[in-house]
Amino acid sequence: MSNEDKLQSLIDRRKKAELGGGEKRIESQHKKGKLTARERLLEFFDENSFSEIDPFINHRSRDLGLEKNIIDGDSVITGYGKVDGRKVFAYSQDFTVLGGSLSLVAGQKIAKIMDLALKTGCPIVGINDSGGARIQEGIDSLAGYGEIFEKNTLSSGVIPQISIISGPAAGGATYSPALTDFIFMVDGIGQMYITGPDVVKSVTGEEISHEDLGGAVTHASKSGVSHFISSNEKDCFEQVKTLLSFLPSNNSEKPPSIDYDYKNNEINEQLNNIIPDEANKPYDVLEIIEKIVDDNFFFEIQELFAQNIIVGLARVSGTVVGIVANQANKLAGMLDIDASAKASRFVRFCDSFNIPIITLVDVPGFMPGTHQEYNGIIRHGAKLLYAYVEATVPKISIILRKAYGGAYIVMGSKHLRGDINYAWPSAEIAVMGPEGAVNIISRKEIANSENPEAQKEELVENYKNQFANPYIAANRGYIEDVINPSETRKKIISSLEMLENKVDSIPPKKHGNIPL
Ligand code: HXC
Repeated sequence: MSNEDKLQSLIDRRKKAELGGGEKRIESQHKKGKLTARERLLEFFDENSFSEIDPFINHRSRDLGLEKNIIDGDSVITGYGKVDGRKVFAYSQDFTVLGGSLSLVAGQKIAKIMDLALKTGCPIVGINDSGGARIQEGIDSLAGYGEIFEKNTLSSGVIPQISIISGPAAGGATYSPALTDFIFMVDGIGQMYITGPDVVKSVTGEEISHEDLGGAVTHASKSGVSHFISSNEKDCFEQVKTLLSFLPSNNSEKPPSIDYDYKNNEINEQLNNIIPDEANKPYDVLEIIEKIVDDNFFFEIQELFAQNIIVGLARVSGTVVGIVANQANKLAGMLDIDASAKASRFVRFCDSFNIPIITLVDVPGFMPGTHQEYNGIIRHGAKLLYAYVEATVPKISIILRKAYGGAYIVMGSKHLRGDINYAWPSAEIAVMGPEGAVNIISRKEIANSENPEAQKEELVENYKNQFANPYIAANRGYIEDVINPSETRKKIISSLEMLENKVDSIPPKKHGNIPL
């Protein structure tokens, strides 16, 4: 064979490999409203930047008819490319090849680029569309999964790991995404569950659709397994790119800051008028966040889950920050199990990747009730304490209104190694709310009074004046200053600048024992 023939043979073979399971299956993929694995990568990466690795790998199984079903590259495409000019690794499962099922070599192929991403300190994005373990390969396929889980775990906190679910992800196949930092699900085509509707029905008798059991809305709003939901794949890729624009490539870098001319918008008078005069009246903390961050752009994470706490990324004067804020208009901003888990995971993510944390506090306390207690609010709330204490990134917090009891301590207080803690004049920092406090400490006095109602009102008012304000905390140095709300952005900018080279640490240890 001449060299020319050899070259032609390579071209032909590559062309065939690029068709994966063939034209018919590609058509069927499109009919389901899904892009193919290759189309996804081309859509995701900057033009002409994708380089493929291992296009000619084959499975080595000779059982149950697989010997007649050998396709170059097997059921996943792997490689690297550029996203907005920055290097990113990716894999994309090919549903047209045996339903994207994971063979041993597909697992090894994924593990190989995970290794490369780790060694070169770059983010990795996995596009999942698979029927799970390749049934014909049995235990070998499970070994393939095991290798991926190992790499996921070892890469955690070193490089950002992102999962896109744009097809089925069932059984153990859900655990690689679950080990990554963020899960993006495409509505209508992405589904994740440990056991499908048929198994659910046979075991529990429940009848439920695939979508209700494990669709994008379910995981975005009920389980909190996913972080983002998108209406189609292209939108999903845009969301992933936006997320990446906030992240460093690895844990030894700072997140990418940009030059930003903030001088003319440091002060925002509107911030003086958002908190209502009445302590129990709700307001939308997003309005405050948007007025503090650059270009009013806040990239919210887990928008539909545990809405009583808001988390997300933004820039302040060009510096990337993570924001945690109690949402007064959902459950009065109380901390419950889901909110604690959501916020602690986010705080730990920020800390892993050198992202300063800004906490906006308006929290009346932890959610009471048997549901919360029986399901372990103590353990879950402790996660948030743990996460804040452990975090060594710059930590700035601003108490907007209520900061009561344990919840005051949890929300990035000075006592948890907060660097700069401010309060607005509307802040009420106390062991508990005035009503609750008076009911406990003045119960007898109220009961014995000639006019209990009036007596209680007076005591509540006295308590408010004496304790429910920011000045006792300021007097003790638990907050650095009581600031004019309109100057909040200016104060954050100056604090971030001051803390830019902050160095802090935790005692040497193998790893801590966070209450999981
Ligand atoms: C081998 C598979 C496969 C699998 C699908 N296929 N899943 N081949 N192993 N796990 C093949 C099908 O036989 C079919 O081949 C082709 O892929 C397309 O599948 P369809 O069923 O026609 O597609 P669709 O109707 O869209 O249904 C998709 C599906 C369904 C919902 C994912 O295929 C399905 O239920 N698959 C099995 C899922 C599952 O139970 N997997 C094992 C989970 S246990 P042909 O040639 O007929 O077109 C597991 C353990 C992991 O994953 C543990 C890790 C620790």
